[in-house]
Amino acid sequence: MNIAIIGTGYVGLVSGACFAELGNKVICVDNNEGKIKDLTNGIIPIYEPGLEQLVKRNYRQKRLFFTTSIKEAVMKSKVIFIAVGTPSKDNGDANLRYIEEVSRSIACHMNNYKVVVEKSTVPVETNTWVKYIMKLNNHKVDFDVASNPEFLKEGSAIDDFMHPDRIVLGVESEKAKNLLVKLYEPLKAPIVVTNIQSAEIIKHASNSFLAAKISFINAVANICEQVGADIEKVAEGMGMDTRIGKSFLKAGVGYGGSCFPKDVKAFIRIAEKLGGEFGLLKEVEKINENQRKLIFNKIEKALWILNAKTIGVLGIAFKPNTDDIRSASAIDLIKMLQDEGAHVKAYDPKAMDHARSILPNVEFCKNPYHVAKGADALVIVTEWDEFKKLNLSKIKKLLKHKIIIDGRNIFDPKKMKQMGFRYSSVGRPV
Ligand code: UDX
Ligand code: UDX
Repeated sequence: MNIAIIGTGYVGLVSGACFAELGNKVICVDNNEGKIKDLTNGIIPIYEPGLEQLVKRNYRQKRLFFTTSIKEAVMKSKVIFIAVGTPSKDNGDANLRYIEEVSRSIACHMNNYKVVVEKSTVPVETNTWVKYIMKLNNHKVDFDVASNPEFLKEGSAIDDFMHPDRIVLGVESEKAKNLLVKLYEPLKAPIVVTNIQSAEIIKHASNSFLAAKISFINAVANICEQVGADIEKVAEGMGMDTRIGKSFLKAGVGYGGSCFPKDVKAFIRIAEKLGGEFGLLKEVEKINENQRKLIFNKIEKALWILNAKTIGVLGIAFKPNTDDIRSASAIDLIKMLQDEGAHVKAYDPKAMDHARSILPNVEFCKNPYHVAKGADALVIVTEWDEFKKLNLSKIKKLLKHKIIIDGRNIFDPKKMKQMGFRYSSVGRPV
């Protein structure tokens, strides 16, 4: 099938490459000329395990194409996915200006029947506006709008696409449904077919629920810490209940990324605009913001005055196996430390290029040991595998004081104590 993906970011590029891998002819569009130029030269603008090989192979085999021209992509495609950014506005609303711009542009170039699919995470009823704006700009050509939210996790996006728990299709016509079912058929995954509003809500509700699960376990961790309980064991005991499930029960410095913070805010605003109050999600946000403060307090507790102290930070990406730093906990934490006059040294295996532009006063190091050298304390913020394998004896010699604050519980408290570290983690006895 001939398809177009408008927006070649984390979601658009992964989806486009995977659809091409399934044998479709895919045209990926982006209004960032530099990004498109890089992609046609085999330079992948984002880090995602396996993506470079997938893009290069499908580009070489002429199943994957890149352009800045929406016109070319629309005219050559039957199904057009919108995967442009939907960032938060200051008031928490999703900024839909790119969705509107792209919808208008698609409408102007439709030369025959198309299915226009919302893949970007959008507030419920966005499809009504997309349909309206498209009809306003092209009342001649028949088309359908659909919603097909993505559930890709950065760091495992290709696997998540190829082996989804479910495909969600919000459709209004048999024609659109049949086309999309056919497109996804090779994945042999369960398909939930519903109306568009329900599909739009499934995405916001799923992300908000996962964020709530994380804030819940973090709130429980803070109780554990007060009474000498071990959150890792509590999470294990909870997770064995199939109604709860063991995933997304990892306590730590909190969630970040381009989705959870944005989607929780958007869902709260959707409820408010409907005259409601989503107090539960407001509490989810509050707990999450507090987790960064909690780690900061642990550093203060270990060092008292932070002015002129050197703090080593390991991990800047919002999670391992990605270079994405959007709403990363490390950014908030580093700014809190710098506001107190601390000097921050940092290292991340993949995210430092992105981080340099927004953290100009951080001393970026080429490995974790350079971060530890002369630091008053070392803080783990992202649980990269490489940090789990650190030579802790070497770290101990390099640190000015043997203080480690572990925001992702990657080390064993008993072992750290035996090694003579002043070690603090989240929700576990010291
Ligand atoms: C985005 C949304 O943020 C997310 O909520 C949704 O689930 C999927 O799409 P992501 O891929 O991370 O996720 O967005 P981003 O990395 O910001 O990429 C969006 C791309 O669209 C960028 O490359 C941007 O240049 C491009 N874009 C944006 C256009 O091509 N045209 C536009 O008008 C606006
Ligand atoms: C999320 C959703 O999982 C995905 O379905 C959706 O399409 C996009 O948003 P993503 O944000 O890429 O994916 O990564 P995810 O693995 O969900 O982690 C999000 C944040 O939660 C990270 O900062 C991670 O560190 C944190 N997290 C995750 C926890 O703190 N504890 C956990 O148990 C799991």
